[in-house]
Amino acid sequence: METKISASILNADLLHLEDVIHKLETAGADMLHFDVMDGVFVNNISFGVPVLNALSGITSLYKDVHLMITDPLKYVEAFAKAGAELITFHLESESDPDATIDAIHAAGCKAGISVKPATPAEAVLPFLDRVELVLVMTVEPGFGGQGYIHDMTKKVETLRDAINASGREIMLQVDGGINAETAPIASGAGADVLVVGSYLFKQEDVQATMDGLRSFAAQAQQACV
Ligand code: DX5
Ligand code: ZN
Repeated sequence: METKISASILNADLLHLEDVIHKLETAGADMLHFDVMDGVFVNNISFGVPVLNALSGITSLYKDVHLMITDPLKYVEAFAKAGAELITFHLESESDPDATIDAIHAAGCKAGISVKPATPAEAVLPFLDRVELVLVMTVEPGFGGQGYIHDMTKKVETLRDAINASGREIMLQVDGGINAETAPIASGAGADVLVVGSYLFKQEDVQATMDGLRSFAAQAQQACV
């Protein structure tokens, strides 16, 4: 299982976002993780459609849009038009999950479903036959730079088993507090897409950091075989 890195730009140098994106391209990031927050679903406001649209004009990186908003269904089309390739919404939002998945697919995107730390793995199971990605939040959504919640590792394991049993190709993503220490833990539990934010941008050499995370992940996976 190949591990992908989705770079979260929430805590990047926003004044020089174009340079940041080009650096991520050169360093071989697999995806660009774009955190959308509305100040209601989470206690923070980040960026939205116009910013994604501008970024789409300067990069062909795969755009992984994480909607932490109250009514994701209302905005699916706008984010798809702005260049999203994958749109992930929260099961705890107010939108109907089936209608939201349908709208994401109708807009030509892959659909992801995410759960906050307090929501059990079982809540996702009814949607495994319809989504292309499951996102396990390993921090409370809202802010970058928080510590990985170790209790979430079990949730990742449960969902890895359920995904394998489904026989479908579904990515299993973790988001929050991923660094050199926690990447092998999450990968060993079965995550194959690591969202990495503040840890990545704290390092001098982004490429070496991503390569390092991938090799730690590969070792952790081997150890589990
Ligand atoms: C948190 C966001 C994350 C965040 C991750 O609500 O969904 O994507 O940017 O940042 P780090 O890697 O700093 O925890
Ligand atoms: Zn995120």
